[in-house]
Amino acid sequence: MVVGGGVAGLATALALAPWPVRLLCRAHDGSDTASVLAQGGIAAALDSADTPVAHALDTLAAGAQHNDPAMVRWLCQQAPEAVRWLQAQGVAFDRDAAGRLDLGREGGHQVARVAHAGGDASGAAVMAVLRQRVQRAAHIQWRGDVEVDTLLLRDSAVVGVRFRDSCGREQEMGASAVVLATGGIGALFARTSNPPGADGNGLALGLRVGARARDIEFVQFHPTALDIAGSHCLPLITEALRGAGAHLQDGAGRRLMAGLHPQQDLAPRDIVARQVWHAHRREGAAWLDARELKPGWESHFPTVLAACLAHGIDPRTQRIPVSAASHFHMGGLSVDADGRTSVAGLYAVGEVACNGVHGANRLASNSLLEGVLCGRRLGVLLADMCAQNVSHKTASGRYRWVARGIGLPSALMAELRTTLWHAAGPERDAAGLRQAAQACAQWAGQGWQAWLAHELLLAAGSRTHSLGSHHRADSAVAG
Ligand code: SIN
Repeated sequence: MVVGGGVAGLATALALAPWPVRLLCRAHDGSDTASVLAQGGIAAALDSADTPVAHALDTLAAGAQHNDPAMVRWLCQQAPEAVRWLQAQGVAFDRDAAGRLDLGREGGHQVARVAHAGGDASGAAVMAVLRQRVQRAAHIQWRGDVEVDTLLLRDSAVVGVRFRDSCGREQEMGASAVVLATGGIGALFARTSNPPGADGNGLALGLRVGARARDIEFVQFHPTALDIAGSHCLPLITEALRGAGAHLQDGAGRRLMAGLHPQQDLAPRDIVARQVWHAHRREGAAWLDARELKPGWESHFPTVLAACLAHGIDPRTQRIPVSAASHFHMGGLSVDADGRTSVAGLYAVGEVACNGVHGANRLASNSLLEGVLCGRRLGVLLADMCAQNVSHKTASGRYRWVARGIGLPSALMAELRTTLWHAAGPERDAAGLRQAAQACAQWAGQGWQAWLAHELLLAAGSRTHSLGSHHRADSAVAG
């Protein structure tokens, strides 16, 4: 049973062939995933002048060396193969006039190494192909419009799920293995580039059954979401636009990143996001200027252009108002390299999981990559287990259901998002974290999101030094 229809869930399900898989998703067609919204692409050392070692060094530098080095080595070595696999599935990555893969450059990368498709519609292009593969796969049974909110345990192993359909009807299903591929927690913050469903539902479910978590205080903030007043889920303005030469400015047109980092606008995301956050605190706005890019640039960025135009901004003639926004969760359910959690029968993959590959801050365009590679790796592991008839079920034992619990009422949910944004956003300090944790502890009985936020705030409070995306304004020394 795979819960979640993003790239990691689809890759897992496909690799399980020929063993039967049920794929359960919240949206009818899996279109509500963060994978679909990914713009940048897939990072891989594909250029003859590039190497997996150089990719690994950039991944480690962005991750503040908090990464698991063996996972990083594996990911970067396998990355070119992941791109070839996607091509074999039917993904048409963009090519230059000479027919070579057109590699983009993003923050934290020393060289251009991001394979993209449809310009800035990489996630949508990858997902369209994988969804088609899944629909055609005889071993996969897709079930959309369902919400998995309860796990079935026998003794201490997960052996099934309970879910609710869109009419509120409950259904139970046994499974020899349950894979959580439910995505991240960005939607718990007041400003996010994630879809509304990225609310930590799978992480909360895993924690409820006692699975260990790791690094949950590490949340990446993207520097450039389109700043739409009063909106929660904001369109992303891809970093690749800065890779193509756009730059950040304050209200007076001064470069925001000048003199702050050798890579300036392409410095690692946490550094750039903090400058955008500061500009908002100082003057209520920050801007991205793409007006001096080569004429015709917009044909490479159709998603950005459409999002801006839809909100009355023409980025060819006007500066783009941008905001920092929660973007990616490096922490999650602690898993080994194959995706095993600490609970038998329960696996996790993609953003809900933490195998240590991203460290304290994910390198741009390593997330679809992780979803493809770790999903396929987990699918192969589970297929082998099926072939060997390995089961977590005991012959006898007590069954029990463990539920995630009720969700917060919507007014309190809005308050929680604002609280997390201010206390656990791009800058944190002890007093803010403590006050927010107290508020969340009070709300915890009213909804699982407050309980999950409380866990995050406690973890952030106990990491007293700055590291990667976890920036403590009250600690001068980076750890
Ligand atoms: C972006 O296109 O800026 C985001 C890519 C990523 O999150 O890796």
